[in-house]
Amino acid sequence: MSLIDTARAVRDNAYVPYSKFKVGAAIRSTSGAVYAGCNVENVAYPEGTCAEAGAIAAMVAGGDTRIAEIAVIADSPKPVSPCGGCRQKIAEFADGDVVVTLATVDGIILQTTVAELLPGSFDADYMSRV
Ligand code: THU
Repeated sequence: MSLIDTARAVRDNAYVPYSKFKVGAAIRSTSGAVYAGCNVENVAYPEGTCAEAGAIAAMVAGGDTRIAEIAVIADSPKPVSPCGGCRQKIAEFADGDVVVTLATVDGIILQTTVAELLPGSFDADYMSRV
């Protein structure tokens, strides 16, 4: 199954009583393992946890910490744009040239990279004098 198909399948499980907006994400780690996540909302924080964050949590829980490829899918007019927090979370676990595939359920695909999503991101190099 392709990474986008994994993201499409897990999207069905999204728990979104507040936004009604289902998102699915899938990560292939550098070990080759695939991890999936969907968005999960709650009444106190209706924005909940994003699908990308869910997939990252599954990856770390599975013992992997490096993303080789990531895909995100939603039912939107154009490929869904990861939120700022998710961009930083993805950048924590991926090199800048890692491909990010953003898709709509009806087949529009936008391929970008982690560095394009979060240019000039803060990383450990800035703390190298500590
Ligand atoms: N959401 C994601 O899961 N990923 C994105 O890239 C954008 C937004 C979720 C968060 C919330 O559950 C819903 O979409 C509306 O913001």
